[in-house]
Amino acid sequence: MQKRAIITSALPYANGEMHIGHVASTYLPADVVTRFLRMRGVEAYYICASDDFGTPILIKSEQESKTPADYTAHWHRRDQEDFESMDICFDYFYRTSAPECVAFAQKVFEKLNAAGHIYTNNIVQYYCENDRKFLPDRYILGECPHCNATDQYSDLCESCGSIPEQVNNPRCAICGQTPVSRTTNHYFFKLKDLAEPLGRWLDTHPNLQSDVKRYVRNWIKNGLVDWDITRDIPWGVPVPLDEASGKVFYGWFDNHLSYISSTTKFLSERGIDAKEFWNTADIYHFIGKDIVYHHYLYLPAIRLGINSEYKLPDYMPVRGHLKLQSQKLSKSRNWYIGLRDFVKIFPPDYLRYYLLSATSYSQQDLNFDWDDFAARINSDLIDNLGNFVNRALGFATRAYGGIIPEPDTDDKSDIKVCQAIESLATETSRLMEAGHTDRALRTILEFSARFNQYFQHKEPWRRKDGAQACIFYSVNAVYSITVAISPFMPGSSARIWHQLGMPGDITKSSWSDISKLAIKPGHKLGAVSPLFTKIKKDMIHDLKSKLGSK
Ligand code: 2FM
Ligand code: ZN
Repeated sequence: MQKRAIITSALPYANGEMHIGHVASTYLPADVVTRFLRMRGVEAYYICASDDFGTPILIKSEQESKTPADYTAHWHRRDQEDFESMDICFDYFYRTSAPECVAFAQKVFEKLNAAGHIYTNNIVQYYCENDRKFLPDRYILGECPHCNATDQYSDLCESCGSIPEQVNNPRCAICGQTPVSRTTNHYFFKLKDLAEPLGRWLDTHPNLQSDVKRYVRNWIKNGLVDWDITRDIPWGVPVPLDEASGKVFYGWFDNHLSYISSTTKFLSERGIDAKEFWNTADIYHFIGKDIVYHHYLYLPAIRLGINSEYKLPDYMPVRGHLKLQSQKLSKSRNWYIGLRDFVKIFPPDYLRYYLLSATSYSQQDLNFDWDDFAARINSDLIDNLGNFVNRALGFATRAYGGIIPEPDTDDKSDIKVCQAIESLATETSRLMEAGHTDRALRTILEFSARFNQYFQHKEPWRRKDGAQACIFYSVNAVYSITVAISPFMPGSSARIWHQLGMPGDITKSSWSDISKLAIKPGHKLGAVSPLFTKIKKDMIHDLKSKLGSK
């Protein structure tokens, strides 16, 4: 582990509301890892940006009679607010359309061009005579040649996940008319030439997920194809060549370059040498499984093409998609939950807890189920964690005036729980380092359950021998839990921190503090109150009935 880290998560298209599916696979795990690394003493920065370019955005802004710049500025602001409402804290949230990002993408293109990685070729492209424009990517709808699904885009078949390039029975996405074919000159990136160094990068980076590497190696083995990186549309990074006027880069050529340019902007404004920082840091890019191709081929290939001036990623955690009540999320069918709506009803930590405990470090899809959500929150957060915290702190307040007593015994069960405190930091940090945020969270919940049992077994309310030890160890366990959940549920963690009567800011704690008996005899607790409120069945019933209705 380096002493520095840059963490990014897939840049959200500035094209609509953030929903629970967005945060599950990338933004939340990346936020947790950033917070964890900081607690391990790493100088870690979490960088993101809105992804402002691309045909879907252009089409949407045209439909709303807005300029794409105004349209994306609106969604950029909205997204930022939504992330904040979930306590997803970027150090910097920039825009791919910002001047520094545009200039950086152009510079990279010039370097690739000078190094011989670019060539031009005439291609035949669909053109709509009605709308009088070329129809790249999402401007064309048709049948996927691989799985025959209808209404698919040439740049993504949502049914089989392939990038068909050419769909069958094409029609213009704006007016529905059948397009004609026209010749246009495009720029190509010689992806094929980089097959070997790409393979080497996969071989020499042990922290990239091995199942992902396996199928990326297969793509390479089956032969890479050179990549068309330009488009004839008016919204994008302009190709910086006189003869390319009117052409812009395909969004996937430049969007990931904003990981670097946004980081550079952020660090250099703080007087830090950004390139030196980047190249001596661990680089993490968190993504969902739909964009593996772009991140495991295009992104490293472009970095290799500029001589790894900016190092290639060390970690690219890929996680699966979120389903809602076992069905694919869909805004048009109202089968989705917007973050904005969610935080109006529940504290953000309910969603953070549920998603983080359900999202494994794998490409497996996960399911948001309202009943399961209520069950997990009510049993894990309330009956287990909240109950233990409130029980321990509440009893210490009522029976000891909030002053932590000296332990009066040192029996077997005291020794065992003390050992549990001592080993929690190592146990959880091993899981966190291996990317298993869900397992680390479960371990913390098991720790809490174990202390609930200890408390129950010790019956401190009977005021017999061992009552003081029970309070002493239990309150220290509350402290351990508070520090340990801080990356996962920062809001709740801060509240318990105050109830514990701790001064300062919990986020300044170090991960190893989890295993300290930090609360000494004589310490005075703060004011204690219940942490969470139970979710009622009828509330869940109402929320379920709203799904799918217009
Ligand atoms: O798939 C998406 O939502 C893209 N906007 C992700 C871009 S990530 C990157 F590489 F910039
Ligand atoms: Zn048309």
